[in-house]
Amino acid sequence: MGKGKLKKFDEMKSYEHVVQAPFHKVGHDDFHLKGKWSAEFFKNDQPIILELGCGKGEYTVELAAMNPNINYIGVDIKGARLWKGAKQAFQREMTNVGFLRTNIELITQFFGKDEVDEIWLTFPDPQMRKARKRLTSTTFLNKYRNFLKPGGVVHLKTDSNFQYNYTLEMAKLNQFEILAETDNLYEWEGLTDVLRIRTFYEKQWLDRGIPSKYLAFIPHDGEYTEPEIDIERDEYRSFGRSARDL
Ligand SMILES: C[S@@+](CC[C@H](N)C(=O)[O-])C[C@H]1O[C@@H](n2cnc3c(N)ncnc32)[C@H](O)[C@@H]1O
Repeated sequence: MGKGKLKKFDEMKSYEHVVQAPFHKVGHDDFHLKGKWSAEFFKNDQPIILELGCGKGEYTVELAAMNPNINYIGVDIKGARLWKGAKQAFQREMTNVGFLRTNIELITQFFGKDEVDEIWLTFPDPQMRKARKRLTSTTFLNKYRNFLKPGGVVHLKTDSNFQYNYTLEMAKLNQFEILAETDNLYEWEGLTDVLRIRTFYEKQWLDRGIPSKYLAFIPHDGEYTEPEIDIERDEYRSFGRSARDL
């Protein structure tokens, strides 16, 4: 490992607002902060919003700056990426930001019933080959229902037509309440300052002329059905998106 990465990991260890709990630490057990993030981590009763697959945490940090009365937790498995957002939050002395380094597959071990008010999914890997790996699949929506409050909104911002259309199908098929949908965000009349926050990946896609898409919906608490239709695959590759997915 390079010196730069080691330094980042050392800094991460020193941050009180960073929780590092990959599988080899938590195993199959519930994490000790499950159901207690307000009381024991933030030490207040503010709502909690998650950004899953947050990368460098642009949404977590900027939403937290815009809304000091809400707590935000960015979740990602990659420590060197999380470091960027964690350092910014530290330097800006933000008290309403946390970062959690873990695998999102384990997310139900970290949050208790009704503990989370909203979820942001920012430019997730579309996982075109394996539905169960998609962060908007029934597999993951069934995980989120364990901790998302009734009426809690799921926001998806993506470059991927595939991810957007798949999630729109999911929402329609399951009769989720759709609050917003656009396949060209920056041309959309509903554009707000929150939606203008640009992540590291989003900037790359926009530079390549690929418009951002946005969908916001409220899942219900009934059964979910996985859409069985064929969805046209994206033809381009991400700098970080594996060719396997194509
Ligand atoms: C395409 S990047 C997007 C990052 C960031 N949201 C952005 O827009 O710049 C997807 C992110 O999801 C994270 N990720 C993917 N699968 C994950 C999982 N199962 N658990 C935790 N993080 C995951 C990756 O580490 C990566 O940082």
